Amino acid sequence: MRHIHIIGIGTGNPEHVTVQAINRMNAADKIFLPTKGAQKEGLASVRREICDRFITNPQTRIVEFTVPVRQTSDRSYVGSVDEWHAALAETYVQLINGLPENGVGAFLVWGDPSLYDSVIRIVERARRLETVEFDFNVVPGITSIQALAASHRIPINMVGKPVEITTGRRLLQNGNRADSTIVMLDGEQAFSKIDDPDAEIFWGAYLGTKDEIVVAGRLGDVTDNIVEARAEARARHGWIMDIYLLRKGRDFDDL
Ligand SMILES: C[S@@+](CC[C@H](N)C(=O)[O-])C[C@H]1O[C@@H](n2cnc3c(N)ncnc32)[C@H](O)[C@@H]1O
Repeated sequence: MRHIHIIGIGTGNPEHVTVQAINRMNAADKIFLPTKGAQKEGLASVRREICDRFITNPQTRIVEFTVPVRQTSDRSYVGSVDEWHAALAETYVQLINGLPENGVGAFLVWGDPSLYDSVIRIVERARRLETVEFDFNVVPGITSIQALAASHRIPINMVGKPVEITTGRRLLQNGNRADSTIVMLDGEQAFSKIDDPDAEIFWGAYLGTKDEIVVAGRLGDVTDNIVEARAEARARHGWIMDIYLLRKGRDFDDL
């Protein structure tokens, strides 16, 4: 039976790649690399750099594939994602079918495969199509949450308190309600639209890469700096990935 490794590769610094990830990459006949067009070229080049640096098995081949564009017009968000995942599952089946019988393939996933990523879901979906028989396993990677915490030198939670992980869209819908809230996938800069000036924000973009930017402070004081830094960096690079922690209260203030 064919086998697939779903490998977390960290968030931009090749030194995030674990020994387990390196061993699994070198155990693969083919590594499947997504390309998402010029805008995401920065991400594709980090993946290529990781392959160049860590793959020592001369039998391992890199296979680039184009990620289909998600159609959004005249569809609900859920319908659009479902249709996109269906198209990707078909692409995965073709890639896996291209492996030799008992061959091993690998998908390299940004950060960790468990966090706001659908490769595991799509691989499961590809398996359910029953066109090609295969098994899979997951190798954990360093997430953007860990990269953010390390760059700011902070713990994510306050002592004994919970953490909410959400998206920019949900933060706008629900407000800043948790003691510690991690916000990802925020294209609309939700932090600048919520009314909570005394919350602390720990923001980071391009974490782990040579272009990393971090800003921290009271939301009411640093929002404009972040909006400006974000817009400038996005214009310069053509893309941005940013994440932040919003924090309210203090350790032990509920005791
Ligand atoms: C599709 S999710 C992938 C998350 C990834 N699986 C992880 O473990 O971090 C993409 C979001 O992760 C965050 N992200 C990923 N890499 C990042 C980086 N290097 N710097 C800042 N944020 C990052 C951003 O919030 C971005 O919108």
